[in-house]
Amino acid sequence: MSRVPLPYGKRLLDLFRNPKNLGRMEDATVSAVAGSPACGDMIAIYLKINNDEVIEKATFESYGCAANIATASISTEMVKGKKLEDAWKIGWKQVADAVGDLPSVKFHCGILSVGAVRRAIREFYKKKDEKPSWLPDELSLEEKHALEEEELVKALSKRVRTFSEKARGKKE
Ligand code: FES
Repeated sequence: MSRVPLPYGKRLLDLFRNPKNLGRMEDATVSAVAGSPACGDMIAIYLKINNDEVIEKATFESYGCAANIATASISTEMVKGKKLEDAWKIGWKQVADAVGDLPSVKFHCGILSVGAVRRAIREFYKKKDEKPSWLPDELSLEEKHALEEEELVKALSKRVRTFSEKARGKKE
């Protein structure tokens, strides 16, 4: 069986081969995960935030595809040096534009990386027990998408478990 290669652009492939800000950050102020290890699409974001609420450092770990690695790399680059309020405003479309030539089937990879950044920002304020006025109560599209994907994986793995338990039961 032959597989059709995805039309990844040069920039995306460069970022995949030489991602920036890759790795766990031991002294992160906050971190967040989006996606699920069960399906292999998972990203962790680490942010180092100073007293002025500026992101001094951002790194990531990815268990996703090339597009996930490239968009996570770009996301961490884009939020670095920004105030949390400005970092929050960076949506997945901006990330996709910055990567260039992101195939539509891979949009969700970029959405996951922004979802993880936004979760980390929320977590930062949750820890401080504060909520700035610019932070919406409602989940953003990126956070919702991450949640939906996680719930879907949970539901699917439950179905697979039930199915294999039933199959085992029949054999015994
Ligand atoms: Fe799921 Fe890229 S992270 S296909």
